[in-house]
Amino acid sequence: MPNPPSPSIPPEDRAALRQVLDWQVEAGADEAILPDPVDRFAAQREKMRADKPAPAPAPAPAAPPQMPQDGGAGRNAGTGPARPEIAVAAKARSLAGSAQDLDTLRAALSDFDGCSLRKTATNLVFADGKFGAPLMLIGEAPGRDEDRQGLPFVGASGQLLDAILAAIGRDRSSVYISNILPWRPPGNRQPTPIEVAACLPFIQRHIELAKPKIILCLGGTSAKTLLARSEGITKLRGTWFDYLPAPLVAEAAPVSIPAFATYHPAYLLRQPIAKRQAWQDFLAIKTKLEEIEAE
Ligand code: URA
Repeated sequence: MPNPPSPSIPPEDRAALRQVLDWQVEAGADEAILPDPVDRFAAQREKMRADKPAPAPAPAPAAPPQMPQDGGAGRNAGTGPARPEIAVAAKARSLAGSAQDLDTLRAALSDFDGCSLRKTATNLVFADGKFGAPLMLIGEAPGRDEDRQGLPFVGASGQLLDAILAAIGRDRSSVYISNILPWRPPGNRQPTPIEVAACLPFIQRHIELAKPKIILCLGGTSAKTLLARSEGITKLRGTWFDYLPAPLVAEAAPVSIPAFATYHPAYLLRQPIAKRQAWQDFLAIKTKLEEIEAE
């Protein structure tokens, strides 16, 4: 039951307070689960202080200018330090590539500090369902309910997903579910390309370890990222692709996995008219799974 309005707030102020609250929710401040306020800027200041390099030693005498060996056309010819995203991606690849099992991968991801979404998320959302199942579904990123529970697709879109899976005779005990990003973007905003790139090696390694027979990308972010395509989901859905990334483990042979894309369940909740096409997509998945299981 909703709480009765506090008698100490005059009715004319309540509407204004409600507007302020709505404004905060729209701006992404939709969590009120901690008893005390958190000064996230303080944590950031602390980190910046810790990361600050020691004062540079006195400059060495200038070396004579050198001609670039490649005539100046090389990528780093005469440029400054590498962009930070490149260093983050290299770290992510190395951490993810050295994880030999699911628990190590989860621990590596949990310690990975190269994606700022980790700072605002409540929980790491890693996976749900049956590790090693023939079908692996991959969404975009956790929402509010997933962030609270630490499990993918447990909110409204997850309930729709469960219903669709049931309609093709599957459930969470027979499929495996994860996301491109393991942390919730504040206010459910679209993840940035830098956030996606930072976390990509982890989902790639997750796929390598889970060895699904079929990948189903839920929504445009998942489809574009995993299929390395630039088209939107309307173009990508309903067709089989090969998921074929460069292996993260140097000695591993590249493995190609049949991959399909469909609309994200959250989109289906907003646009029920698209359910018809989504149903065709899930029927294609059902048929392919039955073929694989009959082999
Ligand atoms: N949307 C997603 O893409 N993933 C989730 O886990 C929940 C909502």
